[in-house]
Amino acid sequence: MSGRTLSFLVLVAAVCGARVPTNSSNYTFPDGFKFGVATASYQVEGAWNKDGKGHSIWDYQTHNETYLIADGSNGDDACDSYHMLEKDVALLKNLGVDFYRFSFSWSRLLPSGHINAVNNAGIDYYNGLIDALLREGIEPLATIYHWDLPQQLQDLGGWPNPVLADYFEDYARLLFENFGDRIKMWITFNEPSVFTNGYESNINHAPSIEAPGFGKYLASHTVLKAHAQAYHLYNNMFRETQKGNVGITLTIDWCEPKEETEHHLAACERFQQFEMGLYGNPIFSEEGDYPEIVKTRVDNISEAQGFRRSRLPKFTQDEIEYIRGTADFFGLNHYTTQLGTPSTVIDSQPSYRNDIGIHTEYDESWPESASSWLRDVPWGFRKILVSLKQRYGNPPIIITENGFSDREGHEDDSRIHYHIGYLTELLKALHEDGVNVFGYTAWSLMDNFEWNQGYTERFGLHYVNFTDPERPRTIKKSGKIFKEIVATREIPERFRK
Ligand code: NOJ
Repeated sequence: MSGRTLSFLVLVAAVCGARVPTNSSNYTFPDGFKFGVATASYQVEGAWNKDGKGHSIWDYQTHNETYLIADGSNGDDACDSYHMLEKDVALLKNLGVDFYRFSFSWSRLLPSGHINAVNNAGIDYYNGLIDALLREGIEPLATIYHWDLPQQLQDLGGWPNPVLADYFEDYARLLFENFGDRIKMWITFNEPSVFTNGYESNINHAPSIEAPGFGKYLASHTVLKAHAQAYHLYNNMFRETQKGNVGITLTIDWCEPKEETEHHLAACERFQQFEMGLYGNPIFSEEGDYPEIVKTRVDNISEAQGFRRSRLPKFTQDEIEYIRGTADFFGLNHYTTQLGTPSTVIDSQPSYRNDIGIHTEYDESWPESASSWLRDVPWGFRKILVSLKQRYGNPPIIITENGFSDREGHEDDSRIHYHIGYLTELLKALHEDGVNVFGYTAWSLMDNFEWNQGYTERFGLHYVNFTDPERPRTIKKSGKIFKEIVATREIPERFRK
């Protein structure tokens, strides 16, 4: 963790983390705790080719590989937030949230991905959004990269090409220069463990490159360097004047051993270290670098498969030092829990999944959502928070996403059940376990384009009618409850157990 100036927000968090619990406080959020909601550019903006925007890998995938999208849809118009930012800000104001997490579209700002041609209409759009938020007293929390890589950079090989770290730094500099006077919380990357799957298999996630056992590691290697370059750039050039914070958002499910054996425990530990440690260890651990277990597994399996060198690239000692400590806060996306069983057969075909050596499943008693991967398992949230505290020395954590999907409707009781359960567990982690969590973001402000699932899965606190060109948004029952929690800063009594 960087010892540099932490913002008021983070300092408050540190203090809150140390609070002595009382029973009445168990359902109450501490002073300074922040609430927000999130979206991402490709999922909501639409206007995919308006005002000089370039094409991203998601424009490419949805237009050229339609069969990869559940309903054959795309984000061409999505929620049309590009044209409706005032409406979105009005929704946020009504919810009463402290901050709005949104992402910048790289190809809207730099149509080719490169810094030599800036699209001023893109700069204007984000200035308009940021200023509208600030006018309403809503803090902007900006994600620099939420999966929509400019297609021209993919044509150079995408994230497995190390040169992208430099191009990402150029892009980050543009954002710091243009928006850093008003944005004080930056997230470099959203969920690297997920979007790098786009270089592992061709079944989901653009750019759908099939390079199992190689592509994901190569992409991750560049992403870690890119993150660190952006962080150091901010430190060296902007921190003193802009006084903001830079972090990264990692996602992780809790892995519950299916049986109480040493092997099951070890399998779940491997799962956590591959899925999160691959990114968390280089940045947040004291020693830096990839976790030992990840290095040993991939090195040994690569050798057994007949490769002369490991499929996992190596950092030099200088790189390890350069990446270590490059975050002022830990952004956590958490959704669900899986049951883990070891799977020890080493496949002759390289694959990331095989490197982990685990089989995961869901307990059938856990309430289902509309997403095959998402069940309502609140207790896993507390477990993952406690494990992060233990693993990385209790860093300041902000929950940058947590949410639940359904298919239709405003009477979304299952979403209410989910958020109440998860918020209650968060409070236990905060008050009883001393986890230093200082904010919570619900995914999502409104229904939007859910990547390969198109519009078939809805995550919003607001309902969006996608068949109406005006894209009307209406608050759902869950949105009203969320609003009540934000206003009262506690779990309403009728939901307490
Ligand atoms: C995580 C991603 O960041 C977001 O884009 C996605 O919509 C949600 N999870 C739900 O799958």
